[in-house]
Amino acid sequence: MCKPDAVERGLVGEIIRRIEITGLKFSRIEMRVVDEATAKAHYAEHEGKSFFGELIEFITRSPVVVCEVTGPENTWEIVRKIMGSTNPASAAPGTIRGDLANSISANLVHGSDSAESAARELANFFPSR
Ligand code: CMP
Repeated sequence: MCKPDAVERGLVGEIIRRIEITGLKFSRIEMRVVDEATAKAHYAEHEGKSFFGELIEFITRSPVVVCEVTGPENTWEIVRKIMGSTNPASAAPGTIRGDLANSISANLVHGSDSAESAARELANFFPSR
């Protein structure tokens, strides 16, 4: 997912380019404002954490770009490597966050952390599929 800060900063094309040039395919791309229920389901594992409220407010504030990326079984792992660490302070140069972000909350992108998470998150965002 390209988060609201990515859309606001005009970085969606750059983010997609960095993933697409590896040969992974974008099989679905949709821009939308995420509603609160979908956001809370997406981030359910973080409920109760100090930043949960801020996280929901942030992800629902303006449009995101939800993407389904297709490739080998470990596509999620490749995408996360391209994204870099959650905290831009420790994200390696050459990664999306290492090059383009400076905040742990506004860190431009979200990527599933396993094949199982990817299936669950896609079902949350695209329930009619
Ligand atoms: P993401 O991969 O979308 O998954 C959960 C998000 O919570 C994470 O990226 C960060 O943007 C955000 N996050 C994690 N830790 C913090 C924190 N300490 N303060 C604010 N946001 C955080």
